[in-house]
Amino acid sequence: MNNIKSILVFLMVFFLIEGNLFAQLIHVQTNQNSLIFQVAKNKKLFQTHYGLKIQNTQGLQNMAVVYNEAYPSFGNGQSDEVALMATHADGTMATDLFYTSHEQKVYGNVQTTVIHLKDEKKAFFVDLYFNAYANENVIEEWTTVFHEENKDVTLSQFASSAIGFKAADYYLSHFFGSHSNEMNFVEEPLTNGVKTIETKRGVRTTEYENPSFMLALNSRAQEDDGEVIAGALAWTGNYRIAFQVDDQARCQMIGGINPFASNYTIKPGEKFETPRMILTYSDEGKNKASINLHRWARKYNLRDGDQPRPIVLNSWEGAYFDFDADRLKSMMDGAAEMGVEIFVLDDGWFGNKYPRNNPRAGLGDWQVNKKKLPKGIDDLVKYAEKKKMKFGIWVEPEMVNPKSELAENHPDWIVKRKNDRAMLLERNQLLLDLSNPEVQNFVFKVVDDILTENPTIAYVKWDANRHVQNFGSEYLNENQQSHFFVDYANGLENVLIRLKEKYPSTIFQACASGGGRIDFSSMRHTHEFWASDNTDPYQRLFIQWGTNHFYPPIAMAAHVTKSPNHQTHRTTSLKFRFDVAMGGRLGMELRPEDLEEEEVTFAKEAIALYKNIRHIVQFGDLYRLLSPYDIDGYAAINYVSSNKEEALLMVYSHEHHRRYERNFTKMKGLNPNAIYRVKEINMVGGKSKINFDDQLVSGEVLMNRGIWVDLRRPLESAVFQLTEIKD
Ligand code: DGJ
Repeated sequence: MNNIKSILVFLMVFFLIEGNLFAQLIHVQTNQNSLIFQVAKNKKLFQTHYGLKIQNTQGLQNMAVVYNEAYPSFGNGQSDEVALMATHADGTMATDLFYTSHEQKVYGNVQTTVIHLKDEKKAFFVDLYFNAYANENVIEEWTTVFHEENKDVTLSQFASSAIGFKAADYYLSHFFGSHSNEMNFVEEPLTNGVKTIETKRGVRTTEYENPSFMLALNSRAQEDDGEVIAGALAWTGNYRIAFQVDDQARCQMIGGINPFASNYTIKPGEKFETPRMILTYSDEGKNKASINLHRWARKYNLRDGDQPRPIVLNSWEGAYFDFDADRLKSMMDGAAEMGVEIFVLDDGWFGNKYPRNNPRAGLGDWQVNKKKLPKGIDDLVKYAEKKKMKFGIWVEPEMVNPKSELAENHPDWIVKRKNDRAMLLERNQLLLDLSNPEVQNFVFKVVDDILTENPTIAYVKWDANRHVQNFGSEYLNENQQSHFFVDYANGLENVLIRLKEKYPSTIFQACASGGGRIDFSSMRHTHEFWASDNTDPYQRLFIQWGTNHFYPPIAMAAHVTKSPNHQTHRTTSLKFRFDVAMGGRLGMELRPEDLEEEEVTFAKEAIALYKNIRHIVQFGDLYRLLSPYDIDGYAAINYVSSNKEEALLMVYSHEHHRRYERNFTKMKGLNPNAIYRVKEINMVGGKSKINFDDQLVSGEVLMNRGIWVDLRRPLESAVFQLTEIKD
C-alpha cells in the first residue's frame, strides 16, 4: 500500500514538474505592468507579453509566442539583430542559449528576478536580471555573461535588454542635439528594417543623442492617450539602441553598450555585467511614462532624491576666467543679497606654472592659482559662509591641457592614438585614461584633496569637455585595446562611487559641456545635471521639454543669466528668464552687479518665491500641457504635489499672437473634487494675466474646461500657484 502511495506521489510530482517545464511562465510584474516570459518545451526562453498588467495568466502558457527569443544570440538559428555575440575559446562563434532555472523574490516594493541561461554545448552562461518597482511601474533589466571554457571568450555584442512588441505601427520619439542644443524632440514612424540611436563618442555621450526613447504603439504618441514604452539606458558611455521591425510588423528593441570598437575578452570565471535598461509601459500616453520615471528616479536612482535643492549662483557666465578674489566676493555679496544659497566658483581658479586663464592652459594642475586667489579657496569658502551661503567648486578631473604640469609629468596617462600620430585636440585638451586604476586614483584624489582641505565645500560641479577621438590606451595591453570604451565608463563610475561613499552629503553636479551627461547612470551618483550651456530661456523651453520626458525636474539645473543671452544674443525679460528656470532646480549665472536695482528687487522676490514653491517643482508630478513644438507658439506645464493639494501652472508664449487670441490651457493631475485658490505669482506690475486672480476654482473647471491666460506677445509668461482650500 505504502509503495502504491509513493508511486502515486512520485507520478504527481513528476507531472507537476513536467507540466511546469512545458508551460512555464516567468512573470516580472509591477502594479500595472507585466513582462512575462515563457519557457518553451525545448527550454528556449521567449517573451510572451510586455504591457498592461495581466493578473490572471491562465491560458497564456499555451499560446504561441509572437516574438523572437528573449535574449537572441548569434548562432541561435535566427538571422535578426542579436543581443549577444561571442567567440568561444575554440574559435567558434555560435551560441545557443537555453533556460536552466530562475529565482524570484519580493523585497517590499521591489520584485527581483534572475533567469539563468546556458549555451547548449558550452560552459557559457547568461543571467538575465530584472528589478520591478511595483508602485512606479518601472522595470530595470540587465545581464551578466560568464563562462568556464578552457580559454578566454571574446564578446562582440552584449546588450542589456531585448524586448519585443507587436502592433500595427510604431512611432519612435528620440532626443538628439549638439552642444548648446540638447534634447531636441523628434518623432518618426518606424518602417521595416533597423533604426538605431547611438553614440560612439565615448565621453559627453548624451549631447548628440540621449540614450532614451519613447516607442508608441499603433498611433503617434499622445501625452495622455495610447500605448507608450519609455526606455533609457543607465550608462555613461557609448550605447546603441536598435529597433528592428520585420515583415510581420513585429518590433524588437535591443539596447545596451555600443559594441562598436569594443570587443571584450573575459577569462574563465570572470563576469561581464551590462548596464541597466530602465523601462516603463503606459497605456495612458507619454506623460504617465514620464511621471513613472520621475517618481522612480527620485526614489531609487538620484542622490538624495527626497532632499530639496538649494539655489545656486554659478560664476561662469558672470566672470568666465576673468576674476580675482575681490570680484568673486562682490559676486557673493550680490548673490547673498538676492537670497542665493550656494555660490559656485566655476573654471579658472587653478594652475600656477600654467595659469588657467583661458581654455588653453592649466587643466590638470589642481593647485589654487596664487595670483588670482592669494588667500586660497579657504578664504572664499569662509566669505561665502559669512554671507550665510555655502560654497561650491568646479572641476574637470578627467582632462588635461597639453600645456600643463600634469601633461609634462604623466604623458602615459593621456589617451592617445599611438605610433606618433598627431594628438587631436578639442577645446585644447586631452583625455586622461580612466581605464587605468592609477589614473582613477588620481582623479579621485583631485576631488578628495579639495574636499579634505576645505571640508565645508558643499557642492562640486564635475565637467568634461571633449570626446574620445584619440582612441588608444597605454595602460591596456595590445589585446585589450578594444576594452577602452567600456573600461573608461566603468573607471569613471568607480571614481564617482568612491566619492559618493566618502562624501555622502556633498552635492555633485554632472556637467559635460552642458548636457553631455544626462543619463540614469550619472544620475545615480550625482544630485543634478547641467542641462545645457544654452541658457536662452526661449531655447530652454525646448531643451527642458525634451529633458523632462525622462529625467526629473529636481535634477535639472536651470539658471537665469544675463540678457541679451551670451549664446544666442536674444533679449528677454528677467521675469521670463525666471519663469523658465523655475521649472527645474533654479539658479543664477551672472554678475549681480550687472543687474539694475529694480532687477535685483525682482530677483530677490523671485528667489524667495521659489523657496516657497520648490517642493512642488522638485517633488511633484510634472504634466506637459502645451508643447513648444506646436505651431501655435505657446508652451505650458503644470506640477501637482503628491497629495494634490498644491499645484503650479507655468504658461509661456513664444510667438506673436493675434489681437484677440488668448492662451487656453487645460490643467492636468489635479483633484477634480478639490477647490483651489488660483493666484498668479512672480508678476511684474501687479496686473494679472487672468481675470479671476486670487479666486476659488474647482479642479474640474481647471482641468475639464480650462482657463484663458492673456498672453499674446512673444516671450511672455505667467506662473500660477494653486492651493486647495478646505473649509
Ligand atoms: C562647460 C560647462 O558646460 C560650462 O558650464 C562651464 O563650466 C565651462 N565648461 C567651463 O569651462
